[in-house]
Amino acid sequence: MIQDEDKIIIPPIKCQGIKTKLVSFIRQNIIRNDDGVWIEPFVGTGVVAFNIAPQRAILTDKNQYIIRLYQNIQNGLITPCVVRDFLQYHGEKLCRLGGEYYIEMRNAFNVNGDPLYFLFLNRSDFNGMIRFNKNGMFNVPFCQKKDRFSKAYITKICNQIAKVAAIMSGKDWSFICAPWQEAFTYATELDYIYIDPPYIGRDTSYVGEWPESEAIKLSEYAHSTPANVCLSMWKENEFRKNDHLFKYWADFTWHEQKHFYHIGAKEKNRHPMIEILAIKR
Ligand SMILES: C[S@@+](CC[C@H](N)C(=O)[O-])C[C@H]1O[C@@H](n2cnc3c(N)ncnc32)[C@H](O)[C@@H]1O
Repeated sequence: MIQDEDKIIIPPIKCQGIKTKLVSFIRQNIIRNDDGVWIEPFVGTGVVAFNIAPQRAILTDKNQYIIRLYQNIQNGLITPCVVRDFLQYHGEKLCRLGGEYYIEMRNAFNVNGDPLYFLFLNRSDFNGMIRFNKNGMFNVPFCQKKDRFSKAYITKICNQIAKVAAIMSGKDWSFICAPWQEAFTYATELDYIYIDPPYIGRDTSYVGEWPESEAIKLSEYAHSTPANVCLSMWKENEFRKNDHLFKYWADFTWHEQKHFYHIGAKEKNRHPMIEILAIKR
């Protein structure tokens, strides 16, 4: 399906709704001016930005740990060496102590907010999920593999860190922790905004609330900004149709692709989903 899958840059973190399998499709359909800024108000793992690799980018997300991780990779505080030492040390303890140690790390992270702890948890939790409770505490359970951080797995993560650091290097990229509205305030008509918001009508507990009112506001911003806009959103599967897409994004040009979600154990996620790229102009 994806011809250049080998060339896809895989980021060091995972999340629900990660667009790794859709990156080629996105790249094929986006026509932009490289003098403009690539703006992503819901940057998540950054997989789309890393693969588009624009010269100038504003990448925002309300998840402060993702943003701090990437800021620290960008400013050289988090390097492949730092990550290797950290994951070897804590991975060895995880191997000896198992799930109890995962919980110890999770409790420590919920106090220190350290992006390295976030990386450790994200790469050893259940399905690479990101989820916080109402009080902002990370609450994803352990993947149950004590020997999660094998030598090969640590090397893979370190290579992913090195790769994204190399892509950002020499480029004018800003990672900002902010609500999505802020990203729109930077946009001019030269710029391109790629939006991949939380899913309406599917489990959004990993990010907190994503009510319909917020989704409608996003459509209004997307229509009124001078920038071009491309939206990623699910259209339908054999059980359901996304009414919001038909109601609020019908005037954009839709490009379709079948996508199979691997993250999440829910019954509906084991079926192919039609994904849409809706482009303003
Ligand atoms: C579907 S994910 C984006 C996935 C990303 N495109 C990728 O491939 O990794 C949605 C993202 O929106 C962020 N988010 C949720 N609500 C937000 C808000 N109100 N403002 C900014 N970001 C938000 C979440 O933290 C999450 O990273």
